Parts: sequence; structure tokens; C-alpha cells
Amino acid sequence: MARAEQVGAAEGQVTYRGLRDWIEQVDKMGELLRISGAHWDKEMGAITHMLTEKSKGNAPAILFDEVPGYHKGFRTLYGQLSSLKRIALTLGLPLEYERKVDLVKSYHERMQNMTLIKPKFVDKGPILDHLLEGDEVDVLKFPVPLHHELDKARYIGTADCVITKDPDSDWFNLGAYRCQVYDGKNIGCQITEGKHGRIHRDKYFERGQSMRVVVLVGQDPLLYLLSSSPLPEGISEYDFAGGIRGKPIEVIRGPYTGFPIPADAEIAIEGEAVPGQVKPEGPFGEWMGYYSDDVVPRPYIDVKTILYRDKPILTCAPQHKPVDETGLLKGIAGAAEVWQALEACGIPEILGVWNHEGAPATRFTAIQIRQRYPGHARQVLHVASSCQAGAYNGKWTVVVDDDIDASDLDQVLWAMSTRFDPVTDIDIIQKAWSSGRDPTVLPGNFNNRILIDACIPYDKKLRGKFPPVVDVSPELRAKLKAKWGKILAST
Ligand SMILES: Cc1cc2nc3c(=O)[nH]c(=O)nc-3n(C[C@H](O)[C@H](O)[C@H](O)COP(=O)(O)O)c2cc1C
Repeated sequence: MARAEQVGAAEGQVTYRGLRDWIEQVDKMGELLRISGAHWDKEMGAITHMLTEKSKGNAPAILFDEVPGYHKGFRTLYGQLSSLKRIALTLGLPLEYERKVDLVKSYHERMQNMTLIKPKFVDKGPILDHLLEGDEVDVLKFPVPLHHELDKARYIGTADCVITKDPDSDWFNLGAYRCQVYDGKNIGCQITEGKHGRIHRDKYFERGQSMRVVVLVGQDPLLYLLSSSPLPEGISEYDFAGGIRGKPIEVIRGPYTGFPIPADAEIAIEGEAVPGQVKPEGPFGEWMGYYSDDVVPRPYIDVKTILYRDKPILTCAPQHKPVDETGLLKGIAGAAEVWQALEACGIPEILGVWNHEGAPATRFTAIQIRQRYPGHARQVLHVASSCQAGAYNGKWTVVVDDDIDASDLDQVLWAMSTRFDPVTDIDIIQKAWSSGRDPTVLPGNFNNRILIDACIPYDKKLRGKFPPVVDVSPELRAKLKAKWGKILAST
């Protein structure tokens, strides 16, 4: 990796222009690893896995080139968002934070002050460098990886954006959904029930209509981050990305679909899913850390055109047993959406939300509050676990007091071990939204989940009846730091 240089991230602004500029900035930050010669057959996926699993949020982004059997310059990028700094860079937020949860706070605050901006159509852009149509169409022109040892097939779509249009409105949704390769002209698209792309597809199919679709498999990391975030229904990730950037995303019109395609995207695949046309999909190493056992016939995409720029970069994000490269991304983006939802319900004094990396996505969400009234903590638990951003496949939702850092697992466990009563401080939600990716899924695709109130019981807190915490006071800390600066510098 290159030596770290200062990246000129102006506070509150996205400073990079697109994926290529983002890669340059990441290189300057010392967070880019370049690897030549790794094979598409398991090597790239396993190398990323091994560099990420114990990285504690500091894994590099990895740019693979000279993939055997492929032209030099046909590259893949893994691990885009496996560091806090790279997520902050992507969102245009300050790069340094004392606690992980502070980055969620910054993102949450940014969302409050943001106006959605629609994309702007332009005539030109590097995505138009090459256009494959008819017999030329071949998704295996790119070094599509076999990510995990027991995957049945190569997957071109992992860190992708699947663009669909609501048949009833002009809402373009972008979602990250996995895409298996069947052959050069047919790819899968596994969209779980309830996800926006799935709702769009179900609507078309219910009417006996085919659905046009674009799959971006190399794009601005901001679009990927938003595509894998639970944004509210009806909001286009394009408009949201425009809002975060403070200017519209420039798009060209897809030659087959007419859909907006980012002018600076790396690779865009246009196609169509036809009702009744299915192929068996999976198994694939999935986000819960297991191979999915739901190998069933699923609709696939008949590829019509492929657009790509010179020396294209295929973006990848295979998931696996924690910690994988999506752990932080989901921790931050999903947590910020839960925070939004709690406040939208009018609940006061939310101080932090964190989806813990060791428990994929929303399997273990901790929320930090300043208790103001009896029942406050329980109210937070129910909303956080049932709002749209927290509802899918949750398992543990925990609420802690203001003195506990929600993003510090040691502190959360301490609260759960000392402020929680297993009879009175627990609620169970039954038959909640789940999927076949969950190895404990119940018949009908439901799951049960647990809510833990690890706050000091409100009446005891109010009456000062809970024992004081053994800690070093802020005053003594400051005094000692002034006196013993060298020894205490890292604290
Ligand atoms: C790398 C990666 C792969 C994903 N693969 C899938 C998938 O195959 N199917 C799916 O339904 N969700 C998948 N997700 C989760 C969705 O992207 C996420 O739920 C997102 O909110 C979906 O967009 P939507 O809310 O607009 O439907 C994936 C997320 C990531 C980060």
C-alpha cells in the first residue's frame, strides 16, 4: 500500500468525482492494495476474505489486475467500504472519529439537512466507450469471479446496483442484489421478498409484463453504498446521491431500456426479466456467513446490451462469516436509517445507533438513549426492530444508557450483564420479516427476535438507587492527561 497522504476532504462535501477518482484518493490515504495475477477462480475472493476477517475496520480496498485469461486493465475492485475512513470519504464526511458511532451521527445529521436532487441527462460519458449488442453480448468478457469455494457459479453482481422502475410511477430504485452468471447472455438476480426491486418485479409479473432492468457492476461507491441501504419506499438512490453530493448525478439514457445510467459508470448491463422464465439460482456464500440453502428456480435477466468504459473495473463484495467487507457499511448506513426512523416517530434523546459488525447487518443493533420517562427504552426497542430499516432479518435489538457507547461491544455486553433482568427486561417478536438466507428461518420465511432493555431501570435511576459506576471522572482524566501526557497519549 502507498504511504498515507493527506486527502483534501473538505468537511461536509464529497470531494471525489467517480470511482476512478475515489480510487486515487484512497491510494493517497494509504488504503489501496494493488494485486496482479490473482485468479478469478476463488483466489480474489479468498484473498479479500483473509485480509478482512480480522482487520477491525482497517482492511484495504483491493484492486486486482492481470487476471489470468483476461486483458491487462480489465480489473476488479474488492473491499471498497471495509474501512471507516473510506465510508466517510464516500459520504463526504470528516475522516476521523473518536467513536465509530460518531460517524453514524454525522451521516444522520447530513441526511436531516439534505434536499433530494434528480439526476441530469447528458449526451456523453465514458460509459459509452464500448457498446455490445446482439451476438457480441458476453458478460464473461469481464473477469467475473467464483467468489467462494462452494459457490455453484460465477457471480457478476455483488457490489452492484440493480436499477428497476416502478410501473406505477417514475421512481427508479437502485438495490444491491446478487447476480449469478448462467452464460454470456443470461444472468440471475436474487431479490428477497419486500425489497424494492422485488416489489417492482412482482408488480410487472402480476400484470403479465416483462421488466426492463439495468445492472451496474462498477460505479461510484456512493451509489453502491446507497443501493445496499434501506432507503424509504419511493425514494430513488439517484436523487439521494445527488442530495449528498449537492449536485445531480450525470446520466446517459440506456440504449435498450431508456433508463438513466451514470455517465461515468464502469460497466452497465441492460436486459429484461420475463414472467414465468426461471432458472435454478445458488448456492452462494451469503451475508449471514453460510451458503444459502434456498436453491430454487428464480427469474433471470436476458441480457440485451453491455456498455463499458476503457479498462473497466468490476466491483465485487462477496460476503462470508464475519467480519466481511460489508460489516461496517451495513453498520453505518443501516444504523443511520434506524436513527432517522426513531426520530421520525418522535422519540427523543437518541444518542447513537450501531449495527455490530460481528452480527451481520441488523442481527445485533444497539441503541444508546438518555432515558427521559418510564417506557422510553421499551418504545425505542419496538420501533428500532420494526421500522423498515431495522425490520429485515433482525435478531437482537438492545437499548443502552447514555454512558454506554453503542458501537463498543465490550460496553454493550457490560450493560447487558449488569443492568438487565432476563424476566422483565425482555420482549420477543414472533413471525417477523426474514428470508432463506437465515439458517434459523421458520416455515413461511418468518423469524423470531429478541429485544433487550439493558438500561438502568428508570425508577432506580430517578431515585438515585442504582450503584455508581467505577470509572475515572472526566475532571481527573483531564488532570492526569495534562500531567502524564506521554503515558496517556493513546487513551
Ligand atoms: C454486497 C451486498 C449484496 C447483497 N445482495 C443481496 C441480494 O442478493 N438480494 C437482496 O435482496 N438483497 C441483497 N443485499 C441487501 C440489499 O442491497 C439491501 O437490503 C438494500 O436495502 C436493498 O435495496 P432496496 O431497499 O432498495 O430494496 C445485498 C447487500 C450487499 C451490501
